Amino acid sequence: MLGKRVVLVVVVVVLLGMVVGLEGLELCDINEDGLVACKPSVTQPDPVDPTQGCCDALKVANLTCLCGYRNSFMLPSLGIDPDLAMALPAKCNLSPPPNC
Ligand SMILES: *[C@@H]1O[C@H](CO)[C@@H](O)[C@H](O)[C@H]1NC(C)=O
Repeated sequence: MLGKRVVLVVVVVVLLGMVVGLEGLELCDINEDGLVACKPSVTQPDPVDPTQGCCDALKVANLTCLCGYRNSFMLPSLGIDPDLAMALPAKCNLSPPPNC
């Protein structure tokens, strides 16, 4: 039988994995490739126009979720400028959700 301590360790490891997953691999259904493709477009001081790869990633992204990060520490901690990130869908001819 598993002890309570073992269960606790498993829970902590799973939670840590979720946090790392958010930061390292996927953000709002944008996978790591998409984040890498978009990064030059959402970082100061010389943002470039989004590439096709970036826009393709955004097409399948959860933009509602992205808006939720607008005022969080999350985007800056990834080196992403929130204002540039919010302007990105329009640059890809995508409609951002209302109230964004
Ligand atoms: C998008 O993200 C929002 C906020 O996190 C969530 O409520 C919603 O269910 C997500 N939509 C999809 C299609 O995953």
